[in-house]
This record gives sequence, structure tokens and C-alpha cells, in this order.
Amino acid sequence: MDTIVSLAKRRGIIFQSSEIYGGLNGFFDYGPLGAEIKRNIRSAWWNDMVHRRDDIVGIETSIIMHPRVWEASGHVEGFTDPMVDCKVSKQRYRADQLFFAEAIVTPEDATDGKPTSEGSVFTYPDLYPSTPETIGYVSALETDDITGELHRRAQELKRKRGARGTLAPLVVKDITEARAEEIPLIPSPATGEAGSLTPPRAFNLMFQTHVGALRDESAVAYLRPETAQGMFVDFKSVVDTGRVKLPFGIAQIGKSFRNEITPRNYIFRSREFEQMEMEYFIHPDADWFACHEEWLNWCQDWLVSIGIPREQLSLFEHPKEKLAFYSRRTVDIMFRYPFGVQELWGIAARSDYDLKQHAKFSGKPLEIFDEATKSKFVPHVIEPAVGVDRILLAVLCSAYYEDEIEGEKRSVLRFHPRIAPYKVAVFPLLKNKPPLVERAQTLYKALKRKYNVFYDESGAIGRRYRRQDEIGTPWCVTIDFDTIEKDGTFTLRDRDSLRQERMTEAGLFAMLDERLG
Ligand code: GAP
Repeated sequence: MDTIVSLAKRRGIIFQSSEIYGGLNGFFDYGPLGAEIKRNIRSAWWNDMVHRRDDIVGIETSIIMHPRVWEASGHVEGFTDPMVDCKVSKQRYRADQLFFAEAIVTPEDATDGKPTSEGSVFTYPDLYPSTPETIGYVSALETDDITGELHRRAQELKRKRGARGTLAPLVVKDITEARAEEIPLIPSPATGEAGSLTPPRAFNLMFQTHVGALRDESAVAYLRPETAQGMFVDFKSVVDTGRVKLPFGIAQIGKSFRNEITPRNYIFRSREFEQMEMEYFIHPDADWFACHEEWLNWCQDWLVSIGIPREQLSLFEHPKEKLAFYSRRTVDIMFRYPFGVQELWGIAARSDYDLKQHAKFSGKPLEIFDEATKSKFVPHVIEPAVGVDRILLAVLCSAYYEDEIEGEKRSVLRFHPRIAPYKVAVFPLLKNKPPLVERAQTLYKALKRKYNVFYDESGAIGRRYRRQDEIGTPWCVTIDFDTIEKDGTFTLRDRDSLRQERMTEAGLFAMLDERLG
């Protein structure tokens, strides 16, 4: 992960927000290349989700909505994460990310390498426990191998205590599952000492603000924690004005804000992030499961279409007993990030809950009138919801590649052409030959009208190629003497295959149209 973080900083992709003031935890800025990549992810999604389909329309709703929206949606009451404080270090942890286990020593394997007598494993009953014995508790913050980590800590504890016998297999739990009497026994991850952790408490993740000049309760409003509610609240306006017919979707891209207790893993979990969500409305009698499956496949195919390798994706089906009462099914598309396999995209079957809640709280019916049966009903919804920042991180992690060309190390960002910040780089072979420079400039300006293109005339061609490889430019064009003296063709070099071919300007435009379309 460190390689990706330093690469992103070095190349102007991602910066810590307010860095000159020491940064602000959970907030990030996108530099010149990052802003382009992000924009390309958004455009690819919008084109494929909205423009290229007949059944989906796009909207943009405000970040601050009527506070009743969040009462209706359940966020004011229930959008919480359980948190635990360490009273000594003043650190705060998400309770479901703080794991613990009771370290118990059993006598069973006390024979291992020790003298025994027939019929009894205990030659030295004073030294070895005759019954399982708790030697203390161990804790650790979530890692890829939390069981392994806790086991290491339990062994260390056993060594420190000078305990004999064998550690029993650990039963790993998160601290929300701890009994009240266990809390004072669990060490704080900050101090390593027990006794300073508070019991888990619900912490609301919504950012509050005030609208207008008053600062009292009546002026309280929230920064939206998801874009989805905008689609439900505007449902009637879209139906009344958009000439949509079931099944249809409403899509939106926009910023969301969550006061995450432990923002971490770089831009994976931040406090300000961007979502791309789509609510797909279906008839209550429609085959919701088939529709859910369709969207699950669509989303995976889309990720692959922008260059994320299918083998780095997997699915996580939320257990039925952990689903919200209104949810029929939620499946997450997971990506293998360097810090572990984590949620990238959630696809939820949310029944008619949201529309019904807003109808109840607003007093306005949110229904569809069916001409055929002359009846009204509330549609059900399938919701694919993804974060732009998480896609960008997945794209970055899977694009980074190192190889060797002619004994020289090359680092490459193998972005899909649709996602690459620059599509083409144009070079004159030599910068001190005006006809080469002029031709290169003309081509550069022609390409620039349609695409984001880079012009570079400094250094040897090999170095210029390397610079483009490092920022993920898929193609480089070199204007040479044949271009101006012979047939006008130039060299087109491919970043991944390293193949070079002669190409005309018309051929280049046609190829770009096809590959970037
Ligand atoms: N409307 C449903 C909803 O918002 P979610 O699973 O909470 O569901 C959807 O969020 C997606 O938004 C996630 O799969 C993830 O990609 C992204 N996301 C959620 N919280 C995030 C955070 N703190 N930082 C970055 N991305 C986040």
C-alpha cells in the first residue's frame, strides 16, 4: 500500500487535504492527474449507466436536504457505528473493528517435550494447570489475519505470565460481543493495558450543520451521508416530468459525508467521498431476484470494462439475519486491495421501504399509476451503490506494474484508455528541428480538441516514453523525419505491448474513437 500512496503523491494523483496545515484526517484532495482519473471514472459510469440506456435518467440533488428526509430514511435514529473510547489515550475505535479473545491455557498438551508418568500427563502438578485456566485477554485492531495476530499476542502473554500448558484455540470476537464483565479485562490497543476501554456506544455518523442565521435546534440540518435519498425524494417529480415507465432507474453522482470514527486505508474509508448510486424501480410483482442478479452482473462487467481484473473481484452475500428488516438481499462486490479483500460496490434489494417512508413522513403519495390495471402501487427498488474513490483506489492498485526493458526498471500505470488521465502524448523527435516541432504541435492541437493530450519535447525519446508510462498514457506519437519528408505517417507506440507502428492522423483518430468510445 505504501508504494501506491507514495506513487499517488509523487505523480499528483492524491494529496492529503490541507496538507500545509498538517492535514485533516479522513479528507483528501485530488491533484491534476487524480482529478482527471476521477472525472474519467464518473464519465464512464454516467455514459454506460445513463446515456447508453433507455431506462435510466440522471439527476443531481442537493447535499443539504430537509432534515425530515433523514428522519424518514432512518439515518437520524439509526445511522450509527458502535464506538469504544480508551480513557487513557483518548483514542476512539470502531467497536466492530476492535477484536479480542480470552487467552486460556489447557493442560492437554503439557506432555509436549516434558516428562510424563503412565496414566497421568502431569508429572509436576504444581506447574501445569489441571483445568483450563484464563491467563488474561488480548486485543487487536482488525487486520487481514486477526486470528493470527491475536494468537501471537496470546503467546506473548503466556510467555510474560510464565504460564505452562497449551493455549486453547482462541474464540475471536469483536468488542460489541463482549460481556459487560469482560470490558475491563480487555487491553486497549493504544496502551496495551486493560481497564481503560469504555463499553461500546452508538455514534451517529451524520455531519450536522445549521441552515440560516439561527444556531438552535430548529435550524439543524445534515450533510447527506448518501446520495440515494435524493432519488427517493425526487421520485414523484421525475415520474411526473420524465416520461419514465417501469422498470426504470434514477441515477446520481455526488459527494456524501460520513463522520467515520476511524477513517482509514487511505481513500478507502474517508469522511468526504463521492458516490455513484442508481435506484432501479420495479413492479412489486416483478422477479426482484432476477433483477438483482442482472445488476450484480452488470456492475462486475462494468468494473472489468474499465480495467479492473475480474480475478481480483469476489462476492460477499450479506447473511439474512444481518440484513435490515426491509432488505431482501444485499451482495457486495469485493476487491482485493493491498490491505485485504474489502467492499467496493453494494447491490441491495431494498423493497418499497424508502418510498413508503417518505410518503408517510411527507404526506405525499409516492406511487405509480398502472394504466393497464387502473391501479396504483409503490414500486420496489434495486440499488447498486458504489464509491468513486474506492473505484479509483482499485483502479490504481490494479494498474500499477513494474517490469524491465533492456535492463532498465520501468514502472507503469496500466490504466484502461477510458480511465487514463492522458490518452496520447505527442513528441517531436528533436526539439531543435522546427518542422518536426510544428507538425507535432499541429497534431497535438488537433487531438486536444477531443481528448486530454500531453506534449513533450524534452529529453531522449526513451525517457519521454518512460515518463508517460509512469502516468499511464496508453499511446505515444513521435513525429520524425519520415513524417515530414515522406508519407505524413508517424510512429505510434503502445504502452503495454511496446509495439510501434506507423499510423496516419486519420487512422489515429479512428483508433482513439473506437478504443475510448
Ligand atoms: N445508499 C446505500 C449506501 O450508501 P453504503 O454501502 O453505505 O450504501 C455505498 O455505501 C458505497 O459507497 C460503498 O460500497 C462504498 O463504495 C462507498 N462508501 C461508503 N462509505 C464510504 C467512505 N466512508 N469512504 C469512501 N467510500 C465509501
